[in-house]
This record gives sequence, structure tokens and C-alpha cells, in this order.
Amino acid sequence: MIQLAPSILSADFSRLGDQVRLVEDAGAEVLHIDVMDGHFVPNLTFGPALVKALRPHSKMRFDVHLMIEEPERFIADFAAAGADHITFHLEASRHVHRVIQLIKEQGLTAGIALNPATQLDGLKYILEDLDMVLLMTVNPGFGGQNFITSVLPKIQVLRHHIEQKQSSCEIEVDGGINLETAPLAVQAGANILVAGSAVFDQADPKLAVKKLRQAVGG
Ligand code: DX5
Ligand code: ZN
Repeated sequence: MIQLAPSILSADFSRLGDQVRLVEDAGAEVLHIDVMDGHFVPNLTFGPALVKALRPHSKMRFDVHLMIEEPERFIADFAAAGADHITFHLEASRHVHRVIQLIKEQGLTAGIALNPATQLDGLKYILEDLDMVLLMTVNPGFGGQNFITSVLPKIQVLRHHIEQKQSSCEIEVDGGINLETAPLAVQAGANILVAGSAVFDQADPKLAVKKLRQAVGG
């Protein structure tokens, strides 16, 4: 089953609770929350306080995407705030296996994100420990960028590895997902689609979620 994960990065922050309810009503399964530290990526966004504030407003799976250096410093805080899942970047941690264990010890599911130019090789010895791999289809930091099509073969290869291992690891794609690119990512093997501007920059975000669902055959 394909899951849709609207990213609040492109939402209207002045009425965030309403925006979250809108996409939940439209049938989105996952809420994607982009955390940026101004170091790992050239932008700043939210912390655990925002996750805590949104938690009573939604039953969706809260999918926290950490684009921060030394992610181990904030795992417990995001768990306490109500995150269901935490993804951190392979490029931002020196102790990848330890961070995965930290996330799981908090009772959350764990994912690793790879930038567009990062090879899959770094996943070789940890794939079995992961609940999700997030393949970035733009360079992280900003919404509204164009989908990088050269990531499509990487999605295919990762799906092949996961099938070979008979693993239930999910593949999430993030960046530039819209009505044209969503079907390409799904054909390549992705099963969770993050969409920021394609949902919240539209006149009717609820309709935008429904159209994305149609575009991927669900
Ligand atoms: C970018 C973030 C994305 C962002 C995607 O660094 O990780 O989640 O919100 O935005 P769109 O869907 O507009 O490319
Ligand atoms: Zn993201």
C-alpha cells in the first residue's frame, strides 16, 4: 500500500493545526515533519515543542525527518514529544548503528535518509535494523525544488535489496514529488511519498492529497 506523507514545511504556519486536520481528513496516513539545524542544511525549522503542540490534533503517524548534525542529542526529546518515527541522515552521524538503537529503545521506528549523491553501500550492514530508508530526491533544506530523476535507479536497486532480504523495510521518497513524479517513484519501488508544495502550496490541499492518491493508483 502506498502511503502519503504531507510535509508541513510548506504549510501555513499561522494555522498549522487546521492544515494538519485538512490533510488527515483527505486520507493522508503520515505527517512529515522536517527538522533543520542551520548546519547540516542551510535552513532552520522546528523542534520537539512543535511536535508536542501538534500531537493532540492528529492520529497520523508522525514522521520526523532530522536534518541535523549529531542527531543522537535529540532522539529522546522528539520521542517524548510524540513522534512515532525518526529518520536521521547517514551523512550526519558518526555512530549510525548506535542512533538506530537509541530510536528503537524509545519505542519508535527508525529510518536513515540518504542525500541524492550518497551511495547505497553505507546501508549494507544495517539494512536489517531499519524500518525505513528515505531516499532524498532533492538536496535537503528547502521545499519546492525539482525532483532529481537520477535517484530513480537508486530506488530500484534498494527495492531489489529489500526484496532479496525478505525485509519489510519501507522506502520513502522526499523532494519534488507531484502528480508527474509520484508515479515514477512508485514504479521504481517507493511506498511512502512525502509531498510539501504539491499539497500545501495548492489552493485546495485536501483535493491535492486526493489527486496524488489517484495518480499512484490508490
Ligand atoms: C526538504 C524536505 C522536504 C520538503 C519537500 O529538505 O526534506 O520534506 O518539505 O518539499 P517538496 O515536496 O515541496 O519538494
Ligand atoms: Zn523531509
